[in-house]
Amino acid sequence: MPALAEPRTAPLLQARGLHAWYGEIEAVCGIDLDVNEGAIVALLGANGAGKTSTLRALTGAVKTGGTVAFAGSPLNGAPEDAARRGVAHVPEGRGTLSSLTVGENLALGGYLTNDRKRFAQRYERVAGYFPWIAERRSQAAGTLSGGEQQMLAIARALMMEPKMLLLDEPSLGLGPMIVRDIFALLRTINERDGVTILVAEQNATVALASADHAYILEAGRIAMHGPSAELAQNDQVRRVYLGY
Ligand SMILES: Nc1ncnc2c1ncn2[C@@H]1O[C@H](COP(=O)(O)OP(=O)(O)OP(=O)(O)O)[C@@H](O)[C@H]1O
Ligand SMILES: [Mg+2]
Repeated sequence: MPALAEPRTAPLLQARGLHAWYGEIEAVCGIDLDVNEGAIVALLGANGAGKTSTLRALTGAVKTGGTVAFAGSPLNGAPEDAARRGVAHVPEGRGTLSSLTVGENLALGGYLTNDRKRFAQRYERVAGYFPWIAERRSQAAGTLSGGEQQMLAIARALMMEPKMLLLDEPSLGLGPMIVRDIFALLRTINERDGVTILVAEQNATVALASADHAYILEAGRIAMHGPSAELAQNDQVRRVYLGY
């Protein structure tokens, strides 16, 4: 029986033979990736391993080969299609618009709904996760601290009311305390709202502590994957990615 006939057991996101190309450069070389509904999955790897390119390939933001199914039917390879279907991408470097205010950035995140009441409900839910946002609504995003900008980027993605969040190195450039807070918040969002999360990280220690399952990328290929707890015990993973 084909997998699509068993929607309850099929992963929410399923990539098969996924490639990413930049011209002649093959950054992702035909990987298979499953993300179960309700899971937090980490995508680990060193600089240049292909984490960003994998996230881009999943939504079609780069030249892509292979197939990606979401909630049982194929994504058509356009980032707008992924967004409409409920996949929100928080890109590397956050992607907040620095000259716009916090409130305007959030409004951009909610652009797919014209329903004002629904927009207001989403805003209330998001502001519940980030209480500081209420006081900073008219502050230019570019004047926020790095940690606040990362939170704003997550808040903006949540304004889409996504089924799934793709996050690209949320820890980038941030201190250990704020990184811990951000990952704790991601777990809360996952548990409370049932948002499935795929997070690319170089910080394997923090990512493995939060994720159920992890994939390790090396030069565009999956070197290893499995439950986070098992990977954290693996000698090679510990030596190369955890540093002990
Ligand atoms: N726009 C681009 N044009 C050409 N090559 C690119 C481009 N973006 C990425 N690459 C190449 O693709 C490969 C994978 O890069 P990618 O950014 O996906 O890695 P990464 O795992 O996200 O690294 P980092 O941890 O540094 O963000 C690298 O060899 C990189 O040089
Ligand atoms: Mg990257």
